[in-house]
Amino acid sequence: MENRVTRREFLKKVGQGGFGLYLSTLPLSLTSCTQAEKKTFSSFQEVYRSSSKSLSKTGLELLRYPYLQCPTTSSMKIAWKTKGTCKGEIRYGLTQDLERIANGLSPTDYHVVTLPDLQPGAQYYYQIFGDGTPLTEMETFKTAKPCSSKGFSFIAFGDSGSGNADQYRVTEVMKSLNFDLAILTGDIVYPDGDAAYYEPNYFRPYRDLIKKVPFFPSLGNHDLDSKNGQGYLEAFDVPANNPLGSKRYYAFRYAHALFIALDSNEGLLYKPDQIQGSPQYKWLVHELQKAENDPEVNWRFVFFHHPPYSGGYHGQGSQKERLAQLRKTLIPVLEKYRVDMVFNGHDHHYERSYPIRDGSIESDHDSDTQGIVYIVTGGGGRGNNFWRNRLKKGPWCAYIEDAFHVTYVEIDRGLLTLKAINDRGEVIDKATIQKSRI
Ligand SMILES: [Fe+2]
Repeated sequence: MENRVTRREFLKKVGQGGFGLYLSTLPLSLTSCTQAEKKTFSSFQEVYRSSSKSLSKTGLELLRYPYLQCPTTSSMKIAWKTKGTCKGEIRYGLTQDLERIANGLSPTDYHVVTLPDLQPGAQYYYQIFGDGTPLTEMETFKTAKPCSSKGFSFIAFGDSGSGNADQYRVTEVMKSLNFDLAILTGDIVYPDGDAAYYEPNYFRPYRDLIKKVPFFPSLGNHDLDSKNGQGYLEAFDVPANNPLGSKRYYAFRYAHALFIALDSNEGLLYKPDQIQGSPQYKWLVHELQKAENDPEVNWRFVFFHHPPYSGGYHGQGSQKERLAQLRKTLIPVLEKYRVDMVFNGHDHHYERSYPIRDGSIESDHDSDTQGIVYIVTGGGGRGNNFWRNRLKKGPWCAYIEDAFHVTYVEIDRGLLTLKAINDRGEVIDKATIQKSRI
């Protein structure tokens, strides 16, 4: 089955027609900076208090609230940390009766328990116990939606882990959205990805999201600065479905979409004469070829840290040449296998490209393949004030703005609707892609 973007319609809507016609405002609860900030700080205090104490009366203390990992249509992995070792247990079920139990294998302080034999696209209730004592409130999650699903939604963001009010404001906007999963474009915790920064800059800010929605990370350069990414590798359990069993890049399916997370820090990806020798590249080609032969894959999304197209600091500055190399090395294979959209961070602004193919903006002709839309979504909370007002709109660029934000994508079979939403809850950019056939 062929995937087609009706580029004539897409360009008419988001390019030549001008994005302004499609600007709108979501009915979000955040209406002003002041309100958002008040909400941010009160929720920060709330999160801090509840993550620092346990419901247990036995002295057991919950150090890290449970978070979801590796969701499938029939299973869910849940991880949490306790102060001191105990026997971990999850009571769960389709109703609040929590009729099923899954146990950890042995007493530990870092608990990872998989819930098997679940129904696809279903909401489950769950509660964490340690040595038989409840450690959390009753929570919920949803299993991954099956291919037959009409649609789903996800958010994308990067460069987030500052732990400051900017990150918390964007987090409040995320909480106001209804989405099934999140993809992270790297630089997850600052300043250097050390394990010590994951609690204040990732697990605490996103506590109320990651307990009910799976977040899928990718590696930024800062995430590698301490111990070559050890903090990242310890924090996340991703489907390491590549021949090396590496957690630095992976693929997963959600409904009728394929998602691929790449490690764009790998030097070979930048070298045209050497990329063919990269195990990651060989694996990427294999995954895309598999999807090409799978009629149930209608959408293809790839996310990684370094942006091939950016009018921001790195796109213009000292890394300009290095980022441009990605257009020669990585992008041709993404185009060949009809990737729809690429999400990046590294630069801390929002930017959307026109559909690009072979280095050119797609014209309004109609063919089997179409250009890729590139999204820079590095406004998760780190900030970039020194670069404000110096963004440069390249010829590829449909929209660019310096804003803390999150990118929100809704899929309804062949229709994709993308919105960039700033930290005041305002839609700053909106675009749609309509596939003529799926
Ligand atoms: Fe970066």
